[in-house]
Amino acid sequence: VIKAFLFDLDGVIVDTAIYHYQAWKRLANELGFDISEEFNERLKGVSRMESLDIILEHGGLTLPEEKKNELAAEKNQWYLELVSRMTSDDILPGVANFFSQVRKANLLTALGSVSKNAPLILERIGMSEAFDVIIDGTKISKGKPDPEVFTKGAAELGVNPDECVVFEDAVAGVEAGKRGGMFVVGLGSPDVLTQADLIAPSLENLTVADVLNKAETTR
Ligand code: G6P
Ligand code: MG
Repeated sequence: VIKAFLFDLDGVIVDTAIYHYQAWKRLANELGFDISEEFNERLKGVSRMESLDIILEHGGLTLPEEKKNELAAEKNQWYLELVSRMTSDDILPGVANFFSQVRKANLLTALGSVSKNAPLILERIGMSEAFDVIIDGTKISKGKPDPEVFTKGAAELGVNPDECVVFEDAVAGVEAGKRGGMFVVGLGSPDVLTQADLIAPSLENLTVADVLNKAETTR
């Protein structure tokens, strides 16, 4: 029986994925190359330093650790400027309605985000109280596609992995949920999120009842 829903933040609850992309693109441009939207799919759900490594490799650059820390801090500064203007208007369509269904169904909830900025973003959009448990980038040692962020969420909620549904927009996040032994709902394109158990464009296109039905008949 499904007891808990575990949500990614960026690209699922709020569209910060676009801000991460804009800030990384600006950094790549400063370094003399560009990144495409398609390339950006590889960065979604991946930690800050790992994202930087992927970008530098793409640009054919090898830099000392010190320089890399500087660049990561610069990217985060730009990202924070974009995030500082966010309000509850930035919550993605369908989220509020979906969460009220989640509450009515008495499901437990966790946030599972690799972002160290997750608590700040939740505060900006007025959703700090929306989750029973919050696992963010400061609480884990391995980013997605490692399942740690979700297995830790399940453990803190006191539920087993097979009692959880994960909601993800990233390839790395879908893989993390699957490796954690959970039912995974991919939010986005079926061409990209091929590993997901159920795929929809966004939470707006799903009901809690549909998800529970599908998750429970699949096992
Ligand atoms: C999320 C996003 C990634 C981002 C990561 C780290 O997983 O999907 O794009 O790189 O968080 O975010 P942070 O805010 O800690 O740099
Ligand atoms: Mg995401």
